[in-house]
Amino acid sequence: MKTFLLTCTLSGLLTCVTAQATDLEDAKYFSIFGLAPLPTDPSNDWQKDPDAAQLGERLFFDTGMSANGTVACASCHFTEGNYVANESIPAEESRNFRSVPQITGAAYNRFFFWDGRVDSLWAQALKPIENPDEHQFTRLKAVTYVVQAYPAQLEIIAAKSEKYHQHLKSVQHWLATNQHSEAPDESINFIFALIGKSLAAFETMLPIKPVLWDEVANAKITGRRLNAEQEQIWQGFKVFNGKARCSSCHDGPLFTDYSFHNTAMPSNPVLGIEAGRYAVLPAIKENEFGCYSPYSDAGSDDCLHLKYINLSVESNFGAFKTPTLRGVSTKARLGHSSQFPSMEEMIDHYDQAPKGVHGRMFNMDSLSELQPIGLTTLEKEALLAFLRAL
Ligand code: HEC
Ligand code: HEC
Repeated sequence: MKTFLLTCTLSGLLTCVTAQATDLEDAKYFSIFGLAPLPTDPSNDWQKDPDAAQLGERLFFDTGMSANGTVACASCHFTEGNYVANESIPAEESRNFRSVPQITGAAYNRFFFWDGRVDSLWAQALKPIENPDEHQFTRLKAVTYVVQAYPAQLEIIAAKSEKYHQHLKSVQHWLATNQHSEAPDESINFIFALIGKSLAAFETMLPIKPVLWDEVANAKITGRRLNAEQEQIWQGFKVFNGKARCSSCHDGPLFTDYSFHNTAMPSNPVLGIEAGRYAVLPAIKENEFGCYSPYSDAGSDDCLHLKYINLSVESNFGAFKTPTLRGVSTKARLGHSSQFPSMEEMIDHYDQAPKGVHGRMFNMDSLSELQPIGLTTLEKEALLAFLRAL
């Protein structure tokens, strides 16, 4: 986190100049202008492949990859021309009561889903296809469908790897011989993985569009005067990055540290006490399509995020992933299971920092990382203006 509480005060010109310099640095660091190049995913050789991205885009909108022919990724992740959550689908009807996260910028993550139970964007994409609450499909049906519906595209993509090309041929052969022999499970799995890798290539390519906050940051960077609305947003950012310490977790241009924290979020009563990140750790290295699996293109030396994974109870019990705050203004409900119906309530939660229920289970005062802040009404209003500009 960058903490700069310096202001132009009576303490002198030097303080004032330093404050302006750090304002400029912050405006760059937290806006789209500070976005780092996309990290490479060594487990997906097609991560930046345009042909794979093209097929991925078709699949993303294709309802043919679902049991009843009505569900596509876009059903939940695309609304009114934008890649934002479709909130007409209540969290209860979606997976485990979890709310729909943003997918633009998701490629920057190291772990996926609110609890981070999957370690690549392509392995993530395979989960909804087989999920009984989502596409309700099977991998066999998905592979059969894509091989038959997109023969030319799949051929081009698979041809980039001798191994994958062989697997595609064996699936094609099996389908052409009317499936008289047993399904070639291993080859099905490889082509299923390739479907995920194509979807990931598409998601990786989605541009991160500037929002109102970026305009304010740009005005700061270029030394333009802020109008009253922009000034309020800027003051909100100062609270976010200063007194309220939000940026200690919501860091950088995407406002996330990609990590997991216990923030004593209330649970949906149906779910009871949620272990969050902690519940998924025992199985994380053995994920069928994980970095160490045969379907990953990474060498085992590339899987450092799994090798050095933090397994401690204190830092993982009840913890969830810090979500990006880009696009948060479009959300009607907030939190991993839509616990908060408004931004005001979310801000009050941070301001009061309740201890939560998890600590008691370990005879500790609290496992929450939050501390009460003591925001004034004006500070809350400014913070709200900032969050609404994202
Ligand atoms: C029925 C709604 C629904 C459908 C269909 C669906 N998703 Fe999701 N998606 C969700 C929900 C809900 C989550 C969060 C689940 C969780 O964390 O347990 C999620 C999580 C994700 C994430 C993780 C983002 C992150 O930062 O961790 C990505 C990426 C994603 N979905 C892409 C896809 C793709 C690709 C498809 C199609 C193959 C798809 N989704 C189909 C609802 C859906
Ligand atoms: C200790 C780390 C941490 C700090 C500090 C923190 N957050 Fe968060 N934030 C998280 C995590 C983790 C979540 C997801 C919590 C959940 O749903 O279980 C989250 C969720 C959110 C959400 C909901 C996003 C969504 O898509 O549903 C908003 C809004 C938010 N934080 C704003 C803030 C603001 C404003 C501050 C400062 C007042 C702040 N956060 C401070 C870690 C943090």
